[in-house]
This record gives sequence, structure tokens and C-alpha cells, in this order.
Amino acid sequence: MKQNATLDWSPSSWRQKKAIQQVDYTDEEHLSSVLSNLNQFPPLVTSWEIEGLRTQLAEAAAGRRFVLQGGDCAESFEDCRVELIKNRLKILLQMSVILIYGLKMPVVRIGRFAGQYAKPRSASTETRDGVSLPSYRGDNINAPEFTQEARVPNPDRLLQAYYCSAIQLNLVRALADAGFADLHNADNWNLSFAQEAPYIESYHKIIQKIHKALDFAKIVSDHPIGGLGRVQFFTSHEALHLPYEEVFTRDVAHKNAIYNLSTHLPWIGKRTLFNDSAHVEYMRGIRNPIGFKIGHDMAPSDLTALVRNLNPLNDPGRLMIITRMGASKIADSLPQLIDAIQRAGLNVLWVCDPMHGNTETAAGGIKTRKFGNILAELECVIDMHARMKTVLGGVHFELTGEDVTECVGGASGVEECDLNQRYHSTVDPRLNVSQSLEMALKIAQKYQDFDIS
Ligand code: PEP
Ligand code: CO
Repeated sequence: MKQNATLDWSPSSWRQKKAIQQVDYTDEEHLSSVLSNLNQFPPLVTSWEIEGLRTQLAEAAAGRRFVLQGGDCAESFEDCRVELIKNRLKILLQMSVILIYGLKMPVVRIGRFAGQYAKPRSASTETRDGVSLPSYRGDNINAPEFTQEARVPNPDRLLQAYYCSAIQLNLVRALADAGFADLHNADNWNLSFAQEAPYIESYHKIIQKIHKALDFAKIVSDHPIGGLGRVQFFTSHEALHLPYEEVFTRDVAHKNAIYNLSTHLPWIGKRTLFNDSAHVEYMRGIRNPIGFKIGHDMAPSDLTALVRNLNPLNDPGRLMIITRMGASKIADSLPQLIDAIQRAGLNVLWVCDPMHGNTETAAGGIKTRKFGNILAELECVIDMHARMKTVLGGVHFELTGEDVTECVGGASGVEECDLNQRYHSTVDPRLNVSQSLEMALKIAQKYQDFDIS
């Protein structure tokens, strides 16, 4: 029998369960022909990379590594451009250096990219000025423009999503191989428009200290420190569009296991996580490490049942629980869940997403998040795990390498009245470069007090 699969599971057994947030395609034949094309396409990631991530996540759960997961809420085809891809890598690299410095441990970088296209929506239609159209569900399904034509789901967009994911991964891998991510080249990660960012000096000071340490180690050991160029980026996305995920679910004979080879780390979103959910059923049988998002309304007994269902062998490195409860609710909701997992002796990796519980609507109906609330939730989670002697193994952000005005607050001072200036996200508001840098410094400072002024 396969290492992972259970007797009553198959890549399509999710079809017997309750699948919500799925797409109503008008032309089923068109969909089938696209899916059979995709089924023939090469995978985007390999089983070796996935196993490598599993090992690293087990280390993060044990407090020996820290996960930085971040990227767009919803990727768009239009953003599949070199500068945008590079800028996102740069901010993730800058944040990870700060975290390595502050936490004194290696960082696992996981992008919300190369596949983060499908979005769950609270309402199936959107109404503007009395006109109702199907909601925008992510670029692999329909387009954000508010016209009937744009909003009709088109299966060809799944092909485009695959091409854009492959193009991005190709660039990410080429840059990583070419030394772009090498710590010795950290000065190349500067983002031109962030030179005035309030905390940029603190970042440069950290880089200088690291360079000095590297020079010193080089003198002592008499040769350059190796391995610094081989920084890895993993990919992740919400595995929402189950027919798409199913065609990338492949039997890897030499591993005797079945993997989802469209991404390293698929996750289940909060809305599709329930008893009898098709998404839970699909994830149950794949060998990838998987994440799932939980809110303040998760009951401890439901959580332990879910963890047992998704990880019956209690393997460390298999499950990432991403908590997203909101600054005002976290203190009341999280302790009982941590306690239930502890008492049951279940191996999980706890990750904090301080974004999704802190979304609010600003004047004018625009979605935003306050930097102060995001930081407050995160600090509360760090303190809670410390108090309960459990490990917070990572953080999860919606962020971009661009100078957008989507979240308010932080030292660069984006205010509510600035939101319309550069609001580019099609779904949730992201931290901009300056806010992301500041967030990483605040986390590092929380773990190890140092001056970031
Ligand atoms: C998301 O990550 O963009 C998202 C929809 O999150 P959640 O499932 O936590 O609401
Ligand atoms: Co989001």
C-alpha cells in the first residue's frame, strides 16, 4: 500500500463529499478538455523538494527553524512580470535575514505564489449600482473587471494559471541558482522606492553586522563560507479549485506515494474546513505537508478530530495549523486549542496569520487592516506560546514588494485617506515594503531585544 493513501481514498474521492466554493462552469466539456490537457503537463514541483520541506517543517515545529510564509492574497496574471516577481523575492529575503538575525535560527521561506489564484468568496454575486454579477473568484476562474463577460468562469484561465506559475517558478529557481539570494549579495535586494523607509537604517546595520561576521568566519576558516547561495523558496497556495488540484495529484513510483505536484504546501482555507468537507477529504491522502486555517470559532474537540484525520500517523512535519483569529479574539480563543493539541500529544506546527482576523472596512467601503492590530495579534500569539511552553514555528503574511497603500499604520504612516492612492490588490489588503520590513524588525526585536530606531 502507498505510504500515505488510505484504502478508502483516491485523488477523486473528494467528489463524494461536500464541495463548497466550487465553480459553475457553463461548458463542462470545455472544462474536461482543459483538465485533460493539464493532466499531461509536467509537474511544477518535485517530490524531493516536498520531502525536503516536510523535514524542515518538522524542525520548525521543534523550534529549530522559523517559517516565513508570504505573498499576495490573490495573484493576478497581469502581475506575472519580472520586476514584480523580483521585488517580492527581495522583500521576503530582507525579512528572512532580519528574522535569522533576531531569532538566531534558519528561516524556511514559503511564498504565497506560483499558484495562489483561486479565492473563496462570502457572496456568490456582487452588486454595484443595482447591477448584480457573479463575484470575482480569482484569476484562474474569472476576471476582476465588473462586466458580465469578465465574470463568466472560463476554463482556459486554468491553463493560464499553470503557465504563469511555471514562468514564476522558472525565474525564482534561476535567480536562486545565480546567487541572487546569496547573503553576500544582500545589498542587491534594496528596493529603490524603499530607500526612505523609516527602518531602512536598522536593516542596513543588520546586514553590516552579518557581513562582518562572514568576513571574520572566512578569515578564521581560511576560505569563504559555503552554502549561503543556495537559498530555497518553497511555494504554497490555497488548494481551493479541486478539479485543478486533482489533475496534479500524481503517483510517484520511486517514493511509493501520491503527491500534489502543483505546489509544495497546499492549504485548506477557513471557509472550506468543516466536517465532511471535500477539501479535507482531498488533502487527507496526499503526501505533501499541508496547512489549514482556523478562526476563533474552532472547537477544541473538532480540531483534535481534524488533526487525527489528516495525520493519522502523527508524523511531525505533516501539518501546519495557521491561526487567524483577530487581535481582539486571540487571547480568549487560542489557549484552549493549544491545550487540546498538547494534551492529545499531537504533532503540529503552529503558524500565526495575523492578517485575516483583522480585516475591516474603511470609510468608502474599501477593505483595509491596521498595522497595529496585525502586530498586536502576533505579539499576543508569541507570548501565549511562550507561556504555554509550545512553539510558534512561523508567521504568515499577505504582503508585496511594491509601495502600495492597502494597510494603514506603521512608521511610514499610511492613513485611511491615502488608501485610494495605490490600492492594487483585487481581494485583501497587503503590507507594503516598508510595513513588511518594520514587521520583521518588530518580530525580531520581540525575540531578542535590540535597538531598531
Ligand atoms: C486567504 O488566505 O487569503 C484567506 C482567504 O484566508 P482564510 O481562509 O484564513 O480566510
Ligand atoms: Co487573503
